[in-house]
Amino acid sequence: MSLPDEIAAVPVWYHTIQLAEGVSTPGWFDLEPVLGKLPWPDVEGKRCLDVGTYDGALAFELERRGAKEVVATDIAGHEHWDWPAALRRRGPEALAQIAGEKGDGFGVAKRALGSSAERVEVNVYDLSPERLGTFDVVVCGSLMLHLRDPIRALEAIASVCDGKFLSAETVDPGLSMRVRRGAAATLGDQELVHWWIPNRAGHRAMVERAGFRVIDSTGIYAVPFGTGHPARATSRTGLLQRLVAGGAGVPHAAVLAQPLS
Ligand SMILES: C[S@@+](CC[C@H](N)C(=O)[O-])C[C@H]1O[C@@H](n2cnc3c(N)ncnc32)[C@H](O)[C@@H]1O
Repeated sequence: MSLPDEIAAVPVWYHTIQLAEGVSTPGWFDLEPVLGKLPWPDVEGKRCLDVGTYDGALAFELERRGAKEVVATDIAGHEHWDWPAALRRRGPEALAQIAGEKGDGFGVAKRALGSSAERVEVNVYDLSPERLGTFDVVVCGSLMLHLRDPIRALEAIASVCDGKFLSAETVDPGLSMRVRRGAAATLGDQELVHWWIPNRAGHRAMVERAGFRVIDSTGIYAVPFGTGHPARATSRTGLLQRLVAGGAGVPHAAVLAQPLS
């Protein structure tokens, strides 16, 4: 099968990834423009973990930056999401429809890029040194908002992090402007399996509460929609979004942290 045919056979691409000259995946989100804004630690020669990898954009970026070994984790299927009770009650078929068919975007991208990243199915809550060993660098993007218990997940991440942790998460820009210093969060849209969406200080506080010390951080930036995002054509960029996040997309903030010694 040709690479364009392999790409077309994946039902949903979450990440826009350039897999060859002039060949990109039609992802929901394009991390490429924001990768340079993240406070990356040195990953050269390091053992690295990407938690909640989806199609693997962050895992492949770790490799591109010189990681010696990259493990990329995700859940096995849609039934493992932290479904809100109201959605769970609608039953497995409804959940499958909301979550969409995932396909093997990671595998297609891995082969096309000649990557050695290893995909392992393990829930973030179950990360442990016994299961995967420990890592010099752990990254996790856009996952905490989908979890009922983000601090438990961050504690599990801390258990496997020996060095640095890069956390890039969705934040609420309006709440970040109204509450600048204290930690605050809103409950997001349950139809999208959105749980806690913190202000920028709240994201930082969650990481600290799980046993990390924050050593660097970004302001709020927007993760741009990719060509495959259903809302891309109709989404308008409001004034607040433009002021706080600098453009269209989903507002995020990132911190670089290390485990408390
Ligand atoms: C919104 S995507 C983010 C993808 C990528 N990390 C990024 O930054 O663009 C969330 C990913 O986390 C995964 N996920 C959801 N719940 C999870 C859980 N409990 N444990 C591990 N991964 C989970 C989903 O399957 C999906 O791949």
